[in-house]
Amino acid sequence: MRSVIPDYLAEALGDVASDTSGELAGYIPELAAADPEHLGAAFATVQGEVYGAGDIDTEFTIQSISKPFAYALALSDRGFAPVLASVGVEPSGEAFNQISLEDGTGRPLNPMINAGAITTHALVGPEGLKPAERVERVTDGLSAFAGRRLRADEAVCASEMEHAHRNLAIAHMLRGHDILTEDPRTVVDGYTRQCSVLVTARDLAMMAATLANRGVNPLTGQRVITEPVARQVLSVMFTCGMYDAAGDWATQVGIPAKSGVAGGLIGALPGQIGIATFSPRLDPHGNSVRGVSLFERFSSDMGLHLM
Ligand code: DON
Repeated sequence: MRSVIPDYLAEALGDVASDTSGELAGYIPELAAADPEHLGAAFATVQGEVYGAGDIDTEFTIQSISKPFAYALALSDRGFAPVLASVGVEPSGEAFNQISLEDGTGRPLNPMINAGAITTHALVGPEGLKPAERVERVTDGLSAFAGRRLRADEAVCASEMEHAHRNLAIAHMLRGHDILTEDPRTVVDGYTRQCSVLVTARDLAMMAATLANRGVNPLTGQRVITEPVARQVLSVMFTCGMYDAAGDWATQVGIPAKSGVAGGLIGALPGQIGIATFSPRLDPHGNSVRGVSLFERFSSDMGLHLM
């Protein structure tokens, strides 16, 4: 017997399936070769139940959805003050790959844009950690949020690194401002590995549910981050997670969220639920077209808007 939630999700997927607008992420060749038709949605409650429909067990790279989780790890490992000294919390109103550094200091405006996320990656783990150990710490941390062991897609990582001129340029600017204190290429390499971690919509829903559950993974019961860190991360997701579409998203959907260029999209409703969708075609902001439609519908049908 099917329960009412998967039936509802299947119907919602059916309603957006005919929308083939948007483009695959062309600037990463491996992503441009992805199957654009994938479509899935999963809900994970803070009690640990998972409901889903469509492609919820298909792996794809996490990309920018790694950013809030790496931010959580940096805050946990280094404390709030050093992280805030290096990365701000103000929305940039600009695209994810714009430079968006504060005048004078060179501090990236927030950890959700690439400049802030490259800086955040370098702040994961204790000071002095070797780059490979830091990648390990990030992978372990993402795995704790998901509740299963995750691994990177080496082909996507290599493909992005070959064309990472823009991120390298941003990292060099950060190094010029002494926001980064290490070799820019090494940091971008680690950040790109972080973005190449493979997840499913089911994993992402559980990762979002861990944030919604104030830092405790509902499946494993592990406390991954403290409550204050979860609150900080959700706040920044709410104001900055959807880049230059963050205001439209906050008013229309009203859930802290984060998108990735492989087509994933997560939302975390504090105290209630983690939601994830997967559909690879992107709008001009780099957000999944069908994912955004699904979230608008979920928010409206279930009254999920926080206000
Ligand atoms: O740094 C990049 O450009 C990619 N690894 C991640 C960008 C991304 O996912 C933007 N989000 N929608």
